[in-house]
Amino acid sequence: MSPTDRPALRIDILTLFPEVFGPFLQTSILGIAARKGLVEYHLHNIRDYSPDKHQKVDDRPYGGGPGMVMRCEPVFRCYEAVRDMDERAGRLLLLTPQGRQFDQAMARDLSRSGRLIVLCGRYEGFDERIRRGMPAEEVSIGDYVLSGGEPAAMVVADATVRLVPGVLGHEESAQNDSFADGLLEYPHYTRPAEFRRMKVPDVLLSGNHQEIEQWRREQAVKRTRSRRSDLLGHEDERMESKNG
Ligand code: ADE
Repeated sequence: MSPTDRPALRIDILTLFPEVFGPFLQTSILGIAARKGLVEYHLHNIRDYSPDKHQKVDDRPYGGGPGMVMRCEPVFRCYEAVRDMDERAGRLLLLTPQGRQFDQAMARDLSRSGRLIVLCGRYEGFDERIRRGMPAEEVSIGDYVLSGGEPAAMVVADATVRLVPGVLGHEESAQNDSFADGLLEYPHYTRPAEFRRMKVPDVLLSGNHQEIEQWRREQAVKRTRSRRSDLLGHEDERMESKNG
């Protein structure tokens, strides 16, 4: 890819703490993806868009109660400015425990979206008009409450970027990942063949690729059945039609 081409995915992150993303986005797969020019990351400090001279981004809730609420103005101004920095509209994600649960299928969709604008919250939450007035999809990474959306943005960015074509060295390595085909991944081994009396299964040393493939598939199904039977659905039927 030439340097003048657009990256396959541009990710804009809107946050009060851009400094927490630096090393994370430059390391390992995410860093390699950016250096290959496949992905671009842009960090934006919501505080820079506050209209008042003290750059206040939060305020007390109307009606009283604990905690502070993120104000509308800095968030709308930041989003609108960032949106206009690229002609691709992409998708706007608002990270909140109230959102739709993030999963591998969503990561796959997002990896093809061209552009993601990710809005991280802090404090007790967002002013409700941010939800009402912005074209955002609300996304949660799980049923627990983080102190802010930043770790969730890292999770979404990581799971998404590794699925952008060309990011992983071996195209098949994303296909083998847990969840890629609705199954958990099969067990992996590397040298030595025996460690503290624990042996690598003979089949993996056999050199018989067909048997290895079958063993891995069986192990993936077995592991999924024992740990996450909710994922299985019709997998048993798939196994039968494959083997029969
Ligand atoms: N912000 C706080 N908790 C969160 C969660 N579980 N998912 C996404 N964003 C969040």
